[in-house]
Amino acid sequence: MFIKSVKSLTSFKADLTLRKLCMNTMNAPKSKRCDSNFKRNFGQPSFNTHPHLIKEGEVTPFITKSEYQDRRCNLVECILKHAATNNKEKSHVIVIPAASKQYMSDKIPYVFRQNTEFLYLTGCQEPDCCVVITAESSGQLCTTFFTRDKDEHAELWDGPRTHPEQATDFFGVEQSLPISELDNFLKSYRKSNKNLMLWYDFLTPVQNSVHKVISDYISDSRNQKCDNPKSFIHRLRLYKSPAEIALMQKSCDITAKAFKEAMSSSKPCLGENQIFAEIDYRCRMQGAEYLAYPPVVAGGSRATIIHYINNNQLINDGEMVLVDAGCEYHGYSSDVTRTWPVNGKFTPQQREIYEVVYSVQEELIQMCSSLPTLDALFESMCYLLGKRLQEIGLIGIQPSSEYLMKTAYQLCPHHVSHYLGMDIHDTPMINRNINIAPGMIITIEPGIYVCEKNKSLPKEYQGIGIRIEDDILITVNGPVVLSRKCPKHIDEIEKIVCQNQ
Ligand code: GLY
Ligand code: MN
Ligand code: MN
Repeated sequence: MFIKSVKSLTSFKADLTLRKLCMNTMNAPKSKRCDSNFKRNFGQPSFNTHPHLIKEGEVTPFITKSEYQDRRCNLVECILKHAATNNKEKSHVIVIPAASKQYMSDKIPYVFRQNTEFLYLTGCQEPDCCVVITAESSGQLCTTFFTRDKDEHAELWDGPRTHPEQATDFFGVEQSLPISELDNFLKSYRKSNKNLMLWYDFLTPVQNSVHKVISDYISDSRNQKCDNPKSFIHRLRLYKSPAEIALMQKSCDITAKAFKEAMSSSKPCLGENQIFAEIDYRCRMQGAEYLAYPPVVAGGSRATIIHYINNNQLINDGEMVLVDAGCEYHGYSSDVTRTWPVNGKFTPQQREIYEVVYSVQEELIQMCSSLPTLDALFESMCYLLGKRLQEIGLIGIQPSSEYLMKTAYQLCPHHVSHYLGMDIHDTPMINRNINIAPGMIITIEPGIYVCEKNKSLPKEYQGIGIRIEDDILITVNGPVVLSRKCPKHIDEIEKIVCQNQ
């Protein structure tokens, strides 16, 4: 029913020539493939239909077919290594479904966002597909891509789907089948492969029909062992490839420019919604698909509400606005926060608190050179914020660092860092207690939020909320601030905002 690839994992990377040969022998001659591609669109942009987005050899912008193939091989390698020391299963079947469309009301869809693990392993942007990777302990692996069933009527309404005869070559997999074959495929694989481990994220179903197939498949056999592959995928996603770093850099550049425009168009009595609109517009005009998350645009004391996303108030003269926003550019996210006075001039109290957050943030970025854990950076943030606030007389003199850290934590009750990549809170299965390493991208985002109820600080400070957040690539030569083009220094911010007053 399916062709097993005869590639050994260990020799896979050196074996690109063999791989190309395999792909070509499994598919129609290149000239024919191109002809048929021209006749019919795929379910997503391709080199033939969208040459302004996709170069030859790429499945998605910047990411080549062979990078996707390497990702799948790396995943299998991790799982086989794990199995060799733990479970001893001989065969493995890894099932990663695409997300389904979600509807806001009758026939009205939300903007589709792909299941990140599926996108990472395939580059496929269509809903309701599935990828299955089978692997033997000998190192043989076979990827089967399950496409949506052909449906002329649905394709007339929603646009073309990638059909099985196109998908094999398009995604660089060994074979493709319609999704209605998934059930048969899994059962027939189990019949010919005893001692089998199923890798599927049973706890967070993203596609009901695949989940039903898997549920039936598991209940069919009492002995079917099942485990979640997600932590292995997150370990791979944690380290960014050169192509991913280029995408992240572009995502940060787009966001930085949008912030700059938003700053320069700020003025008193502007609506939070208008700053939101400016950033959204500027990001999309530079090629981002959409904002990576609902942004926080919080004027005045609303900046002390950490998850404020109503963005429906006016920002008065003398107030600052805290903006936490970022875009998604071809699947890669940026996450930046800046806080600035809408009239272009920090008050003495705003300036004082801003300088504390700024200096702590800069120091934390420098600390990344020694490759600490994110949790250690959080502890440092609490200590440094406490110390600086004590230096300017806003925290009482007490020698213990515990006291400083506890008081600072009350003023900044969130973590200072998370991993960043395809998702905003990227690779959440990776603990924040591991040392950062070259190739990782993290945020550094200290803040101080003095809510109006906080009577322990003088009245002039109450209602001030400031966060500064940058995106940092860890390299062997130290941290690189990917969001460096976003204005951050007080003088620079005042100059940009003042231009519009
Ligand atoms: N924008 C979400 C965060 O900073 O974690
Ligand atoms: Mn963040
Ligand atoms: Mn953020």
